[in-house]
Amino acid sequence: MDFKDMQPETVLAQAGGAIDLQSGGVVPPIQPATTYARDEDYKLLNENNLYSRPHNDVVRQAEGVLAQLEGGSEALLFPSGMAAIAALFRTVPTGGRVVVQSGIYWGTTKWIREFCARRQIEIAEVDASDAAALQAACAVGPAHLVWVETPSNPWLKVVDIAAAKAAAASCGALLAVDSTAASPLLSKPLEFGADVVMHSTTKVINGHSDVLGGVLVTKDVTPVWEEIANDRASAGAVMGPFEAWLLLRGMRTLSVRVDRMAENALKVARFLEDHPKVDAVLFPGLESHAHYALAQTQMPGGAGFLMSFLVKGDKATALQVAGKLKLFHRATSLGGVESLVEHRHTIESHTGIPETLLRISVGIESAEDLIADLGQALGQ
Ligand SMILES: Cc1ncc(COP(=O)(O)O)c(C=O)c1O
Repeated sequence: MDFKDMQPETVLAQAGGAIDLQSGGVVPPIQPATTYARDEDYKLLNENNLYSRPHNDVVRQAEGVLAQLEGGSEALLFPSGMAAIAALFRTVPTGGRVVVQSGIYWGTTKWIREFCARRQIEIAEVDASDAAALQAACAVGPAHLVWVETPSNPWLKVVDIAAAKAAAASCGALLAVDSTAASPLLSKPLEFGADVVMHSTTKVINGHSDVLGGVLVTKDVTPVWEEIANDRASAGAVMGPFEAWLLLRGMRTLSVRVDRMAENALKVARFLEDHPKVDAVLFPGLESHAHYALAQTQMPGGAGFLMSFLVKGDKATALQVAGKLKLFHRATSLGGVESLVEHRHTIESHTGIPETLLRISVGIESAEDLIADLGQALGQ
């Protein structure tokens, strides 16, 4: 049976593929060499490997798994999610135009704004979860790239990817989707028309809060894709073999982690929604969420593990709730097996994030324990 015909759960459980014939090991080996030898006739001993900046087996194995999961033709790993985003934006020519979703991960917005200012690239920032607004922003003129993040972090808005593709196509732009908060199991942006999908693999794909990484997966091998691949090989923003190996190991349990996290998250969201000390819960898996119907179509396996909620009271109340949590670690990031809580206003006070908003990433602990922890912190 060919790996190509298998379900994602099987591909993931055996991520990295066949038995290592040299050792008999059931996990792939790590090759740390930076350079590869040639024979007496100056032929490479292994024609796939010349120098480790562009060539490493375990990096390629991890990329193969990610490309297959997303239904893409190729994947490229980078040393962080931001490096993957930067690699894509660097293909936009000086003086070009991009349409970027507003209210997304602040680190992305900040870097894109700075980069575009340096390159005289015009940015239209728009709430892309409003399909008409996105279409209108695209109608202003030709663009090179439309960038959306769904579900968005920390507002948990869901973007209609098929509508975004139509808008991007109308202005001649590529559509790229940051699908980090969805995971490759809960959403398949390429199937809905995206040209490129991106993940910070630092998050749920690795899942253990111990590897920084990012990936781009392309539907087709286009000139833009080749430019990204060449630039990575020459400019050197590569993932190291140890990180790629850890990523493969993390991916072996991705499907069970995502199932458990999504199940826990829905229980936690329902608990918070009914809690008298909570003003609102932002989670697209709740029927009350404005994008619930869209999330059901685009993310049929669950709405993920990330959510935000607004605590009744003020900034001090929200910080007190965060301070009283015992199981949720007070730390930035998301997608790990351990649950995290973050007061985003502390990080990005000027972006309009409410002072009472707490973002949580729900892990694989017992939902009952997580709910009890939130209950005691909020005050029953
Ligand atoms: C949605 C999203 N995209 C991209 C990134 C950037 O990824 P990294 O921290 O791996 O560079 C993050 C980081 O939090 C994120 O949440």
